[in-house]
Amino acid sequence: MKEKVENLDWNNLGFEYHDLPYDFEAKYKDGEWQPGELTTRSSVELSVAAEVLHYGQEVFEGLKAYRRKDGKINLFRPELNAERMVDSAERMMMVPYPVDAFVDAVKQVVKANEEFVPPYGTGASLYLRPFMIGTSSVVGVTPATDYTFHIYATPVGAYVNGLNPSPYTVSEYDRASYAGTGQAKTSGNYASSLFSSAKAHQEGYADCLFLDPREHKYVDEFGGANFFGITKEGQFVTPKSESILPSITKRSLLQLAKDQGLDPVERPVPFDEVDQFAEAGAMGTAAVISPVGSLTYEGKKHVFYSETEAGPVTTKLYNELVGIQYGDRPDPYNWTQTV
Ligand code: PLP
Ligand code: COI
Repeated sequence: MKEKVENLDWNNLGFEYHDLPYDFEAKYKDGEWQPGELTTRSSVELSVAAEVLHYGQEVFEGLKAYRRKDGKINLFRPELNAERMVDSAERMMMVPYPVDAFVDAVKQVVKANEEFVPPYGTGASLYLRPFMIGTSSVVGVTPATDYTFHIYATPVGAYVNGLNPSPYTVSEYDRASYAGTGQAKTSGNYASSLFSSAKAHQEGYADCLFLDPREHKYVDEFGGANFFGITKEGQFVTPKSESILPSITKRSLLQLAKDQGLDPVERPVPFDEVDQFAEAGAMGTAAVISPVGSLTYEGKKHVFYSETEAGPVTTKLYNELVGIQYGDRPDPYNWTQTV
């Protein structure tokens, strides 16, 4: 059932699906991408033998549209989502969707659903979920020849707990394998994280951190966000690993941290070192910056700045990032585009 705008409580939105008036869809067949268009259809019909159902040929993206104080709408670095989707598609043997067409389609979806972009000041935003699936009927394991690219949008609030710190644990399982698909935004990585996440929730944690899949010695990332730590000397540190998603929020924070003199570095982060971080957090489009209050592993609990209050560096980076996204602060990097 299509959502009615008057039924939404902007200040109390969860991270949930609302069926909005318009989606976008384009199909790849006969060896080329057909022109895409807005559609009121928010479902896809598939053959029982469709590639995606059996062999998981799927890639997706996540980005947000932000309502500014002047009523206009910002997108944040959408071309990087488009480029990452090309990389993910290539890794999954899919035909990439063109970057310019991706950005244009995102803008069309935002405009068509404009009344569902949450008001400025609510902290909420319109989440966009572009995805692509292999649709041909196959029995043997071989790439699809037909694809569907689709975008849906849904208004969202906080994914974790805003700027309030949460407790995390460490997974004993992996989300992606060594030399596997960890750098691609593909459904299988998320399917394999579900068990660990559910276990973490049952034990009272907000979520779990994954370690590197080869040695279980280094910090990799969370199931839906990259990790950062701030050393006692004030350095911004984030893991360098072949099995994590190249986060756009991470790339942006590396720049902001540099400009704030936090001497940022991407390097392998041995788990043994987490005790040396004065602050820690999860970063991503959905997570924004979610402070990690504590990290529990093998019976030992590492507490960072505080279990109830975000640290000063985390707060500063959060305000800077969110300020640019909502158009409250200058954007010297030209990261935002108005729709
Ligand atoms: N890592 C994983 C596994 C994710 O799913 C996400 C979310 O997209 C991120 C990191 C953060 O990436 P980004 O900042 O581009 O949203
Ligand atoms: C995002 O941040 O956009 C993601 O895709 C993460 C997902 C776990 C919600």
